[in-house]
Amino acid sequence: MTESPTPKPWIEGIHAYTPGKSRAADGRELVKLSANENPLGCSPRALVALGEARNPARYPDPDARHLRKAIGALHGLDPDRIVCGTGSDELLNLAAQGYAGPGDEVLFSRYSFSVYHIAARRCGATPVEAPDADYGADVDALLAAVTDRTRVVFLANPNNPTGTFLPRGEVERLHSGLAPDVLLVIDQAYAEYLGPEESDGGLELAARHANVLVTRTFSKIYGLAGERIGWANGAPGLIATLNRIRGPFNVTNSGQAAAETALADQDFVARSRAANQTERTRFVEQVEALGNHGLRAVPSKANFVLVLFEGALPAETALNAIAQAGYAVRHLPGQGLGEALRITIGTREQMDEIAAVLRREAEAAG
Ligand SMILES: Cc1ncc(COP(=O)(O)O)c(C=O)c1O
Repeated sequence: MTESPTPKPWIEGIHAYTPGKSRAADGRELVKLSANENPLGCSPRALVALGEARNPARYPDPDARHLRKAIGALHGLDPDRIVCGTGSDELLNLAAQGYAGPGDEVLFSRYSFSVYHIAARRCGATPVEAPDADYGADVDALLAAVTDRTRVVFLANPNNPTGTFLPRGEVERLHSGLAPDVLLVIDQAYAEYLGPEESDGGLELAARHANVLVTRTFSKIYGLAGERIGWANGAPGLIATLNRIRGPFNVTNSGQAAAETALADQDFVARSRAANQTERTRFVEQVEALGNHGLRAVPSKANFVLVLFEGALPAETALNAIAQAGYAVRHLPGQGLGEALRITIGTREQMDEIAAVLRREAEAAG
């Protein structure tokens, strides 16, 4: 007999999620460019709605009806085909839990969102990584990795932590290669950073097929990461499954109010997208100018850039120098990205300062 409760073996195999840092090793507060948050904050109108949502003694609407209606109106979707979650994180976990379990496989690309590993393990399934194509998803490799035990395939598009993007035709090709009983989850956490003509067609696929679930979040371009609100869209059967197993009051009163108001302020979204695009282009140009020192930016469609260190300057040295200058960026050696840093796009001043540190360090390293 054991002395204390024993966690399930698949739970013991989980490495807890490592959040983006905001402090240096010596405890100094750093500017946080490590969690892909919006440097412009959130819509001022959403901030007012947050302040006015003073009903903490009451449970929130368990079905987030107003919010689902507002999401449906903006995206041309039936609110009955939408479920809201405590961040899209909850919904990703529920998708795995609803459709996979011990003995099953959950498939995703190498260098994709670390929560997919946790979501697979949480329900006892086996996480399976397909090889990447220059840091992005490779449809042929994903399809080749499908077995008769594959139950769920996750695709982050744009992808975190690499910023890569799979165009519509490739997403369709991935979907057509999957059997109808395999769930394809298209995680569009960064979709609002794409231009309107760049959509990967995920919502259209979810409208037409019973095995496609699209997830979105208010944490990124909407700047409401602290309120924890996400949503998923898919066929009624998928939504019914997620509704069965989600937390009954999974989105707070303030979160529902803020998200609904944020949706109505598309000017803020457009401003955030434009600022991101301008500063990302400018920052990438500064990184590319250091190409002769072995620095390279993986082409990004998101609000961050993965910088590769393929010359004399080690990523860790750059990480420490950037921290000395007052910034936290993301180093992901645990994900096989020891010679890379993922840097969230901040303000122009912040990005220029980071680029200057990279230049100084690259030149010093030779
Ligand atoms: C690809 C991707 N999906 C989902 C999420 C989860 O976001 P949230 O749970 O805040 O909605 C993130 C957050 O970093 C992400 O990068």
